[in-house]
This record gives sequence, C-alpha cells and structure tokens, in this order.
Amino acid sequence: MSAEAVAVAAERRWSRAVAAIIAVLVAMMVFTGVHWASMPPSRVETIDPRTLHISGEFAEGNLGATLSPEGKVVVRLVAQQYSFEPQCLLVPAGVPVTFRATSTDVIHGFVVFGSNANTMLIPGYVATFTTTFPAVGEHMMPCHEYCGTGHEGMWARVQVVSADEFRKRAGNGSRVSCVRR
Ligand code: CUA
Repeated sequence: MSAEAVAVAAERRWSRAVAAIIAVLVAMMVFTGVHWASMPPSRVETIDPRTLHISGEFAEGNLGATLSPEGKVVVRLVAQQYSFEPQCLLVPAGVPVTFRATSTDVIHGFVVFGSNANTMLIPGYVATFTTTFPAVGEHMMPCHEYCGTGHEGMWARVQVVSADEFRKRAGNGSRVSCVRR
C-alpha cells in the first residue's frame, strides 16, 4: 500500500469515528429533550411572580426561617435584581433544613459555600430542596446565575447556629433571620 493509501484509510476511519460520536450526541439530545418534554419532573410548583410579594408564603412577613411544632425547619427566601430577601439566613446545625425560594424578576440562583446547597431560581417556579448544615458557622451565599449589571454584588449570608440556639429564637413560631435591625 502506498503512503497515500494508508493516509486515506486512516482519514476514513477517523471520519467514521467522528460521525458515530456526533450521532450518539445528537441521539442523546433528542432523547433528553423528548423525555423532559413528555415527562417533566414531578412536583413542579408554579407561582405568579407578579403577585407573590402581596400574599401567600413569599409575602415579606413570611420570609426567613420557621420551626414547626413537629420540629421541621423551613427557610423561605426571594431573589430579585440584585439582592436576596432576607439578606442573612439563620439556620440550625445538624438538622434537615428545607429551602423554598423563587425569583420575582429574572433567573437567579445561589450556592451556599461549604455546603451542597445549590439551586437555580426561575421566575414562576418554586425551587425547593432539603439539606443539613453539619456545623455552626457562617457561609457566604452568592447569586450564581448572571442576572444583570448588579450580579457581582448579589450576595447573602447563611448563619448556622446550634439547634438549641435556633429553637430559642424560632420556638415561638416566629419567622427568624440574622438580618441586623
Ligand atoms: Cu442574581 Cu446573579
């Protein structure tokens, strides 16, 4: 075989491999697209971003952390250009904490440094997840979806206190946060 024939054969093998890889990727995109369109994730919760601040669970008086009589901790927060409300979240250590959050305007998101808390906040939908903060401490919580010119300055804090301390502050059923007044 001439050198040219060897080169042509190698090129042909590579082009077949590349075509196969592209075909697999396209098939995966089509499959996930059709799958998500026909079977959206269960428990999709929607909310009207134009009225959520007026009444209901995301009205201002309902934001922050609550402790139910059964001991369930729920933190509610709202994201908007360019802040989180409340600016400082108070949570107990060593206890499952359920976050419920949404956006009033554009897509935001947040991550709590030093934990696995990480979600997108999409206007019209309620994001919810449960996590446990193992130790007392303070964590930064930046917005991690580009949301406009003020994105860089969109931060909140998470203050993790002992379960006893949290019970003392939230035990009477009030909404608590660590925003300084
Ligand atoms: Cu909000 Cu970036």
